[in-house]
Amino acid sequence: MTNHAKLKQWVDEVAAMCRPDDIHWCDGSQEEYDRLMQEMVASGMAVKLNEGKRPNCFAFNSDPSDVARVESRTYIASVKQEDAGPTNNWIDPVELKKTMTELYTGCMKGRTMYVIPFSMGPIGSDIAKIGVEITDSPYVVVNMDIMARVGAKVLDVLGDDGEFIPCLHSIGAPLEEGQQDVPWPCAPVEQKYIAHFPEENLIWSYGSGYGGNALLGKKCLALRIASAMAKREGWMAEHMLILRFINPEGKQYHIAAAFPSACGKTNLAMLQSTVPGWKVETIGDDIAWMKVGDDGRLYAINPEAGFFGVAPGTSEASNPMALASLKENAIFTNVVVTKDKDVWWEDMGVPCEGGTDWKGNAWTPDSGEKGAHPNSRFTAPAAQCPVICKDWEDPAGVPIDIFVFGGKRTTTVPLVHESFNFNHGVFMGATASSEPTAAALDLGNVKLRFDPFAMTPFMGYHGGDYMQHWFDMGKKLGDKAPRIFYVNWFRKTDDGEWLWPGFGENSRVLKWMCDRVEGKVDANETPIGLMPKKEDFSLEGLDLPDETWQTLMKVDTEAYKATLADAEEYLAKFGDKLPADIKEELANLKKRLGA
Ligand code: GTP
Ligand code: SPV
Ligand code: MN
Repeated sequence: MTNHAKLKQWVDEVAAMCRPDDIHWCDGSQEEYDRLMQEMVASGMAVKLNEGKRPNCFAFNSDPSDVARVESRTYIASVKQEDAGPTNNWIDPVELKKTMTELYTGCMKGRTMYVIPFSMGPIGSDIAKIGVEITDSPYVVVNMDIMARVGAKVLDVLGDDGEFIPCLHSIGAPLEEGQQDVPWPCAPVEQKYIAHFPEENLIWSYGSGYGGNALLGKKCLALRIASAMAKREGWMAEHMLILRFINPEGKQYHIAAAFPSACGKTNLAMLQSTVPGWKVETIGDDIAWMKVGDDGRLYAINPEAGFFGVAPGTSEASNPMALASLKENAIFTNVVVTKDKDVWWEDMGVPCEGGTDWKGNAWTPDSGEKGAHPNSRFTAPAAQCPVICKDWEDPAGVPIDIFVFGGKRTTTVPLVHESFNFNHGVFMGATASSEPTAAALDLGNVKLRFDPFAMTPFMGYHGGDYMQHWFDMGKKLGDKAPRIFYVNWFRKTDDGEWLWPGFGENSRVLKWMCDRVEGKVDANETPIGLMPKKEDFSLEGLDLPDETWQTLMKVDTEAYKATLADAEEYLAKFGDKLPADIKEELANLKKRLGA
């Protein structure tokens, strides 16, 4: 397959340590994909779905303990602890490698070791990064086939001595001779490690087969390792969707938005605009890599090739473009498999007679339990999205006009506000907060967490340096820096109803942002930022009572003052590395709030 000596040597070393029965180099072909799926159906790991209803689609159930990222077992093992910062778990890399080497020793016994050459970003483009994932999970292989560009072509580009990021993964479940395998083998939580060695550009993951823990191109490489590289090299790797918003005259605006996991990126990325004449095209739904172009503007690419999207809540009404993306050639994990071998999840907007739930048990809608796990996911090729932008794979990227931050806040935070300037926008991003979701397993009883730039679980280095990097990028971009906004789709009434209809209606908010960029509309100045005047905001066709509008746009000064103390306490964690610009913005906000 390759004459790359360093790669061959690494594969040999891993094989000697993990002792698989077989080694398979993945070529990324359809034939290979089909064969692996057949094998997984035969072993009971996968279910082939109804070919008439879901052509070439498969469903998997994970072990009930292995359903999401495990942040408490995710490590940034930088040489010095201070380089990991207060938001990351840290173990000395020498010690961690020793612990993990013990776990890896013999861990692939009875299994095949797959070598997956992959490219994050279009193969061969300047901005792409090549990784090689070694895994003993065929589920990982088929998901990587969709989420990244995989196969022989990547090895061609790598040549004999190209640079690659080694990504070692094992489910951590050796199979002794004569032992019966289980459908979803994995290790107990105290043996799980999702480890990053940022100085070496190296990833070691053990014990989990799920999502971001196991598909190492995604959060591990394209965010944690890439963010550390981006800091060193002067670019950005962010947990952001990328979309193109086109006005009735055909003018394009490019928007990159950072919301924490399960807070609406996939939905916004492919929304169906309800503002007449305006249209969204999708470029990416989770990750953006951004570089300053020759013209001094910031250009973004989506390094991924597929969507690993939250299933529950995805319906014809909420996200028809996602549903269309997963009509065929998709993988479903932890959803309901219906009696006629189709898929179903909560709030899919269609009735379900029952079937098999995510735990593999017989299930009916009135059983009182959720049929799909709240973090159940679909894996679908991005190219299948009907509104995928024709330029989504352009290695030059798209010029970003607007950054958006946000999160899930059922109270306090208004529908939209704009920053006074770039630095104030960075402060808004640095103090973004959200209520926990099902995308991470172990956030405990936290009611609200600060999640700077929606990157808390994904920053590959010290969070204070991370904030500083944003300010530095702002300086580099000068007056070409994107405008920055903060949104919240998730306000609720006291009765628990959504105050804002959300989904497609969020296009109204995006349009206001574009009107601001064009200088077409004025704004109300409030202590937290600039907010829309009602007459400038497109509300036609939306039956929104004035009272609701007032609530959505209210700046609750007292509530903001109350969270100010929490923000200050949170920011203090960054110690000496808290940027002076953050302190200045905090002081300004305090003054404006009269605190
Ligand atoms: P990750 O893939 O974990 O990074 O999540 P994400 O940020 O892409 O979130 P996603 O778009 O999958 O949305 C998560 C959940 O929020 C889904 O159940 C959606 O239905 C719901 N959601 C998304 N947008 C809105 C909205 O505008 N309003 C409301 N009420 N819910 C929304
Ligand atoms: C997230 O949690 O932000 C995801 C899903 O996009 S995972 O790939 O599991 O990280
Ligand atoms: Mn995500």
